[in-house]
Amino acid sequence: MCGIIGYAGSENAVPIIINGLKKLEYRGYDSAGLAVYTEQKFDVVKRKGRLAALESCLKENPVSGFTGIGHTRWATHGEPSDENSHPHLGHQNKIAIVHNGIIENYKRLRENLKAKGIAFTSQTDSEVIAQLAEYYYNGDIIDTIIKVANRLEGSYALGVMCLDQPGTLIAVRKDNPLIVGVCETGNFIASDIPAVLKHTNKVYYPDDKEIAIIKKDGVTFINFDKEPIDKELETISWDADSAEKGGYPHFMLKEIMEQPKVTTDTFLSLSGNHDNSKIINDLKLDSYNKLVITACGSAYNAGVVAKYVFEKLCRVSVEVELASEFRYKNAIIDEKTLVILISQSGETADTIAAMREAKSKGAHTLSIVNVIGSTIAKEADHTIYTIAGPEIAVATTKAFSAQLIVLYTLGVEFAHKLKKIDTAQRQVYLNDIKTIPEKIKAILNRIDKIQHYATDCIAYKSIFFIGRNIDYAIALEGSLKLKEISYIHSEAYAGGELKHGTISLIEDNTLVVALSNCERLSPKIMSNIEQVISRGAKSLLVGSCKADEIEDKLQVIAVPEIHELFSPSLSVIVLQLFSYYVAANKGLDIDKPRNLAKSVTVE
Ligand code: G6P
Repeated sequence: MCGIIGYAGSENAVPIIINGLKKLEYRGYDSAGLAVYTEQKFDVVKRKGRLAALESCLKENPVSGFTGIGHTRWATHGEPSDENSHPHLGHQNKIAIVHNGIIENYKRLRENLKAKGIAFTSQTDSEVIAQLAEYYYNGDIIDTIIKVANRLEGSYALGVMCLDQPGTLIAVRKDNPLIVGVCETGNFIASDIPAVLKHTNKVYYPDDKEIAIIKKDGVTFINFDKEPIDKELETISWDADSAEKGGYPHFMLKEIMEQPKVTTDTFLSLSGNHDNSKIINDLKLDSYNKLVITACGSAYNAGVVAKYVFEKLCRVSVEVELASEFRYKNAIIDEKTLVILISQSGETADTIAAMREAKSKGAHTLSIVNVIGSTIAKEADHTIYTIAGPEIAVATTKAFSAQLIVLYTLGVEFAHKLKKIDTAQRQVYLNDIKTIPEKIKAILNRIDKIQHYATDCIAYKSIFFIGRNIDYAIALEGSLKLKEISYIHSEAYAGGELKHGTISLIEDNTLVVALSNCERLSPKIMSNIEQVISRGAKSLLVGSCKADEIEDKLQVIAVPEIHELFSPSLSVIVLQLFSYYVAANKGLDIDKPRNLAKSVTVE
């Protein structure tokens, strides 16, 4: 996964790079490093561990320079260590690189270079890029980069510095994100917008195999034939504060608290003259005979919610597939299929591959994406943006809520277009969706009860989540959220499945969180609760269906009433806060859970 940043300008690059890396740490935090150009040499500092380790090292041995590159790593090839940290230099210390991606043919390239007497200092696939670059280097760094890129198989976003080119950064990408930011005091490359937001909201989006040449006073783009390319400078509407914690102890809590605004903004963007609303209007829904939703992680869970919504409202059958499975299953889709891709980052490798697979089979693709200009947003036939702003915490909250709003609205509009609901019914549903932000606020106002309950839950060995129908979909998300950040074992089950296996795991010291928003299924979920309580478990019921608390055995956290199809937006707030406070009470690093990264750009 990894995050890269680079700067060429009139200020000291080191604090700028460190600040940028802080905003990219969500992409990986196994190690961090930077290189700056100083008087005919590179000063390189890199350290295993969090960015703080690099910072304290720099405090003891400060370096500075006006041009530099930095990296935060999520280890793929080679363990987290100082040696495997980026930047990597070639054998003559002439070329320094930072790399995000995976070089699939690195072993072959490495063996070839080793046979020529070149010694490697790390186990990474990335070092091969620096070594190959120096091997090819003949005085023209652009020629060298083109040659190297043509030898690489896999994916890369690269930041490159060459000793013979003071004040210049070169960047190139293939299948991994890269932006180029411009401002008066210097220019940037970065994996993502928040890394540069403090300095500028003006960015270019290089396409695959376009080379960006970044200097203090300007940026130019060329292709692999060295022909100049005109690129459009885009203005990002996110402000710098949105990428700061704003007084909250963690980004996750800040992002949870932003959900009333995010759901309002996203809902508004789906009506009137906004681009999102035009896209919905333009979709020729009656021309499809199949609907497939594919995504990863929480975005997949949003897809499971959507399946219930679409099937109920539109009466069409919907398939939801994990993108990592969809891409390899030779899916039965054609030009009459609409494939919906859901992704916060727009850069998840499996979702990108699923999109390309769908397109290659002639299917129409509609993406729901948060990051503007990301690969999925650009390549899908249509893109609806969630208006969630930058999401920094690894565990998604506000982007998920924004995705739900888009999916509900799509469901209602599809149903209306397909004449499954009339105009009056459409309006009733839309009015109901419109109440979500206020109802989320009401839950956030009762945060104390959730916090108090969660405090008592840190000792559980296992926490199960159950629900039926749409409550099952949100049980999946609740369980994922909890295990991601609290490291407590957790699984989600459809209530009816308990008796087919899971119930054998129920004993003392087990908690079962039951979702209950479907009035007609409430008796069923209540009997599930009784079954687990009688086997020693404790239970927490979350939902709008009424239930009586049973001393210390069953607690209830009620959410406001809403149509059951839209209830996931309310239940999930309780589940996010529950997970957050369990993890906070365990003293864990909530925004950067172990082994995870926010943007999974590798398989
Ligand atoms: C990672 C994140 C999840 C996210 C998933 C899909 O696993 O930790 O929060 O849901 O990737 O990411 P995407 O950017 O495609 O939504």
